[in-house]
Amino acid sequence: MYLLLVSVVLLLWYLLFRNKRRRLYQLAEPIPGAKDTFPYLGLLKNSYNAVDNVVSDIENISRETFKTGGIQKMWGGPLFFIALTNPADIEYVSKTCLEKDLLIMKSVRAFTGDGGIFAPVSIWSRKRKVIIPAFSPKILNSFMDMFSRRSADLVDKLKELSGTGTFDIWPVINNFTLASIAETSLGIKNLDGINDVVVSDFLKSVEEIFKVGSTRTFSIWLWPDWIFKLSWQYRHFTKHSNKIINITNNIIRKKRNDLKHVDLNVYENQTIFDHLILLSQRQNGFTDKELREEITTFLLAATDTSAVAICNTLLLLGKYPKIQEKVHEELVRVFENDKEKSFKDVLNDLKYLDMVLKESLRLYPPD
Ligand code: HEM
Repeated sequence: MYLLLVSVVLLLWYLLFRNKRRRLYQLAEPIPGAKDTFPYLGLLKNSYNAVDNVVSDIENISRETFKTGGIQKMWGGPLFFIALTNPADIEYVSKTCLEKDLLIMKSVRAFTGDGGIFAPVSIWSRKRKVIIPAFSPKILNSFMDMFSRRSADLVDKLKELSGTGTFDIWPVINNFTLASIAETSLGIKNLDGINDVVVSDFLKSVEEIFKVGSTRTFSIWLWPDWIFKLSWQYRHFTKHSNKIINITNNIIRKKRNDLKHVDLNVYENQTIFDHLILLSQRQNGFTDKELREEITTFLLAATDTSAVAICNTLLLLGKYPKIQEKVHEELVRVFENDKEKSFKDVLNDLKYLDMVLKESLRLYPPD
């Protein structure tokens, strides 16, 4: 009797659930469905080892989607996914569907809060009005000398490692991108050198947080907050999230202090962080918490993506020595005998390198 009652309640709940979503089912109906998925479970059949297989799963789904006219539907339990491969469709969706799925964003938002691109659209669009002017060509050009200097340092570091056998290039490149972003975006010149510990602590924590974030995203049993909070992943996440919060709080304190000694009316070379700090000193400006969220988001958005792009490009150059040779020839020709030339003098002449970078980003876009 009891079992019958529970079954009836469950059935009623399921029918109501379906009825509420009938429009979604109608719209989904004509879209070709992915092969090799289970009824109801759909993609979730793979979730027990999804973290290990996510890249190959996405590759397989993309290949299948090419065969079904560029669009394919998939269910992950009650969740509905659409895979697209036609660039025009992707562009349309990217421009019109701006709100990000809460589930995927949940783990990231736990420490970026409502920072930039991770925030709901209403908050993001207000904040991006402040952020976008900081990417003006004038400001970007002012960073060229710094890029030249830091790139030369990077080459020196790689020279030391060259010939020493196999080594992991990732930490070298990741440190380079974090230090460059810290200098250009936050105006902090000495993150490396005297503060090596801070840099590696930050990078380590970012890496650990990404790992927990992706494990949670692809492990359905960790989706409910109350289960996640009981897990070791949550304790690990909190430990590293607190480290990032401490580091970024120190950055804010240092910057506020530095700005006390400058005349803001004639202050040149403003970084994105200066913009935010200056705004925060006005009415309705950013609070320290909001500033911290923006900085964390910014460092995340810029460091890992750039490091992945550089590493992928270096890998491709290693794989295709003829292309590498052409890049080298161009660099030798453009720099001639003047190695001291700054990037800003030669950037427009590095046409082949520009194509190589674009092709690498096209083939392996960092996410
Ligand atoms: C190869 C390196 C990079 C790649 C592939 C990349 C990719 C992306 C993508 C795909 C978005 C859109 C994200 C979304 O709306 O969900 C984005 C946004 C953004 N990225 Fe990057 N990015 C890179 C490097 C950087 C760097 C170096 C910076 C800063 C110094 C940066 C700052 C930003 C900012 C501020 C946004 C948000 C823009 C907005 O609100 O509209 N990114 N990036």
